[in-house]
Amino acid sequence: MNCLSCLIKEKASQELGVPFDEVEGIENIRIYSYKELKQATQGFHDFNKIGKGGFGSVYQGKLKNEAVVAIKVLSSESKQGVQEFVSELKTIANVVHENLVELYGCCVEGNHRILVYKYLANNSLAHTLLSKRSSNIRLNWRVRAGICIGIARGLSFLHEEIKPHIVHRDIKASNILLDDDLTPKISDFGLAKLFPPNMTHVSTRVAGTMGYLAPEYAISGKLTRKADVYSFGVLLLEVISGRCNTNKRLPVGDQFLLVTVWNLHERDDLLSIVDAELDGDFNPEEAHRFLKVGLLCTQDSPQLRPAMSAVVQMLTGKKVVSLETIKPGFISDFGDLKVKGEESKVVTLNTTSCEFLKTEKSSALNSFTHASITFTAICDRED
Ligand SMILES: Nc1ncnc2c1ncn2[C@@H]1O[C@H](COP(=O)(O)OP(=O)(O)O)[C@@H](O)[C@H]1O
Ligand SMILES: [Mg+2]
Repeated sequence: MNCLSCLIKEKASQELGVPFDEVEGIENIRIYSYKELKQATQGFHDFNKIGKGGFGSVYQGKLKNEAVVAIKVLSSESKQGVQEFVSELKTIANVVHENLVELYGCCVEGNHRILVYKYLANNSLAHTLLSKRSSNIRLNWRVRAGICIGIARGLSFLHEEIKPHIVHRDIKASNILLDDDLTPKISDFGLAKLFPPNMTHVSTRVAGTMGYLAPEYAISGKLTRKADVYSFGVLLLEVISGRCNTNKRLPVGDQFLLVTVWNLHERDDLLSIVDAELDGDFNPEEAHRFLKVGLLCTQDSPQLRPAMSAVVQMLTGKKVVSLETIKPGFISDFGDLKVKGEESKVVTLNTTSCEFLKTEKSSALNSFTHASITFTAICDRED
């Protein structure tokens, strides 16, 4: 280590109040003071608040050097100590890729746990694509295809190119931010690790979040990279169709995007789901391929879902999309879930924490009246 990095390490160690050794690898992120971030957001004023998610609130801020940043104030429920926080932060700080949001630094003063990111002016895909009324940006076919491939590349990098790999856990439209040139950037990767393990990161504020959860993750909490692949598949279908994964205002039978796409696939009419806003101006061969990849990624069995590197190859036409796609698995509601497996059981999920409240044997099934969907639980297979 040269003298300069020694000095930076020393400074970070003092500012964070953690041992010198703990700071290894964190030299490339800045340590902000609480005062500095308070000034940048005018006292964390509401009019600077740009969003609120499962982890806390996000503010737009302007630093003294005029740089505009997104300041994420992690919720106070996080009881993680400074050392654990810093050690997890190191893994995030060193992960750099064109399709990942850049982390500038953090503030770890007292109880405060704050992350400072590059501010992305074009907001999220949820804003740009799925709530069209609040955005003036129109995404043409080329841009959409580029967004899908970019997200796939970012995820493939997290899953397969870094060690230890990172499972995102919360891939969804609001976690895909768009740069000035509409390059997609995945946000919130690695964030779940900044919280104590018993604290969930899954936001139930956004009704659609549920629609991204892989069945095996929602049911058993079993988390593998394939849970991200599932969420990516849902997102892919949303980008192509311009529709949210769940829309309770649509007629019954058409409320769940996955079901609709699957039915169209069976009728050999997949292309009719492509966003009407494109006015037919899209590449049909490519759109068909993308939709099939979406169905493949959302297979009920994690093993049938491809790895993200294979997804990139399929989307870019370098690998053939397997035709053996079977009906996707999905969960329609956080309410009671009826799970069919070798051992039938009733599982009640807590809507706020997504943790199991109760798991009972099949006798309860008889009195079970409002199960939203039945599917096969796959709890203990490897990634
Ligand atoms: N780096 C950023 N640049 C611009 N806007 C951001 C940034 N990070 C987050 N946001 C905005 O803040 C909102 C809330 O973010 P977050 O707390 O991660 O919750 P969620 O991802 O559940 O929406 C996002 O939906 C997005 O609109
Ligand atoms: Mg987010």
